[in-house]
Amino acid sequence: MVSERPILLENRDRDGYDPLSIKDYIEAGGYGPLKRAMENGPRWVINEVSRSRIRGRGGAGFHAGFKWESVAMQPSDDKVIIANFDEGEEGTFKDRTIIEVDPFKLIEGMTIAAYAMAINKGFIYNRGEYPFFPPIFKKLFEKARSEGLLGKDILGKGFDFDIEVVEGAGAYVCGESSAILQSIEGQAGQAKIKTKRTAVSGVFDRPTCVNNVETLANVPYIVKEGGQNYASIGTRQSTGTRIISLSGNVKRPGAYEVEMGKCTIGDIIKDLGGGVDGTSIKAVLLGGASGSLITPYKLDLKFTMEDAEEAGLTLGSGVIIVFNEKSCPVDLAHNLMGFFAFESCGKCTPCRTGTHHLLRVLDDIRTGRSTEREVEKAMEIARMMDRASICGLGKTASTPFQSLVKNFKDVVDQHLRGECQSHVCSIGGGN
Ligand SMILES: Cc1cc2nc3c(=O)[nH]c(=O)nc-3n(C[C@H](O)[C@H](O)[C@H](O)COP(=O)(O)O)c2cc1C
Ligand code: SF4
Repeated sequence: MVSERPILLENRDRDGYDPLSIKDYIEAGGYGPLKRAMENGPRWVINEVSRSRIRGRGGAGFHAGFKWESVAMQPSDDKVIIANFDEGEEGTFKDRTIIEVDPFKLIEGMTIAAYAMAINKGFIYNRGEYPFFPPIFKKLFEKARSEGLLGKDILGKGFDFDIEVVEGAGAYVCGESSAILQSIEGQAGQAKIKTKRTAVSGVFDRPTCVNNVETLANVPYIVKEGGQNYASIGTRQSTGTRIISLSGNVKRPGAYEVEMGKCTIGDIIKDLGGGVDGTSIKAVLLGGASGSLITPYKLDLKFTMEDAEEAGLTLGSGVIIVFNEKSCPVDLAHNLMGFFAFESCGKCTPCRTGTHHLLRVLDDIRTGRSTEREVEKAMEIARMMDRASICGLGKTASTPFQSLVKNFKDVVDQHLRGECQSHVCSIGGGN
């Protein structure tokens, strides 16, 4: 039986704990790590983060230690850190959960990160669809400033660092690491071909570190326990815990924090989610909209980045959406492709036209008008989109379609013959 391993969400069930109270946070051990970091110096902090081998939780899984090293070595005294709280991936609500449960973990994590990389300015890029958080963040910053934990001369050690919250533009692509910079600069949130690394030239051409909220919220624990201890949680390549956003047809949807490598996807659905809400599982979407639709045969996959990679999958931002026997995978893929066609910023042709083309093909499949030849051609276009799109949105937009054709070939074939056994698509008696 799998149970949670709360590190980021450790204060969720603490009696009487008020997430907005800095006193409660400090009483629970908060800001001890910042003091420890400042006693040991920036170099020590970066070494501990590197030793922890923590990989970014925003989707790409980049080692935070490498990124911090690159930013720290920039000679500029005008560097920036951005907490990516865009959380636009379909089915993801883990960062929101961290902010609801223990927002000072992010603020302290950013402050430690800034201290380690000699950064004086931070931004929290707040998801446009979460308009209620910016006023709360502003109050929390005030509380931290009044305790000498943010702003000028933090803890009397001569280190200045402050944070500003930026309201996101409400587009999925704004979470992408080049689009987020444009959006913060006040330009349209569109991805850019990168000619320089963000660590060298990011927002307003200043050396910039972009990290996901969950990545940064782990930092106080890493500093408190030491990198080596953190690395003993999880597996060699997937250290620490992950917060899973579990939703769809499960009895207990929610955000669950688990140790990586200690459970399978099936365990998470059964033990934490209470099992399928229905009679059986038809499909699972793993990793979010840009993830894969997998069959129930893959549920014994261990929840680690390396196991997912080996199976040609990705954990993405930690999304698991369960679909029961009444769902149709073709309809699901059609729905997801509608999302990408809508969210494509339109800057490059493979993504702009490719997403609409795949949407049309999926519509043909669900209405019984498609052919094997059309599906084969669409797979070629999908692979071309992976290679030729400018940014990660276009590079992964076809994943649900490709995984549908690979993993649910029998279901696609049925549709080509004019049947939808789930009676969801128009040919099966649905809409
Ligand atoms: C289309 C697109 C949307 C993204 N949205 C987010 C997001 O909402 N939050 C996030 O942290 N990362 C997002 N990412 C990943 C970021 O580009 C970047 O890799 C991440 O913020 C780096 O932080 P990490 O190393 O801590 O994961 C997105 C990437 C793409 C391609
Ligand atoms: S891949 Fe899509 S979202 Fe990214 S730049 Fe091209 S059109 Fe815009």
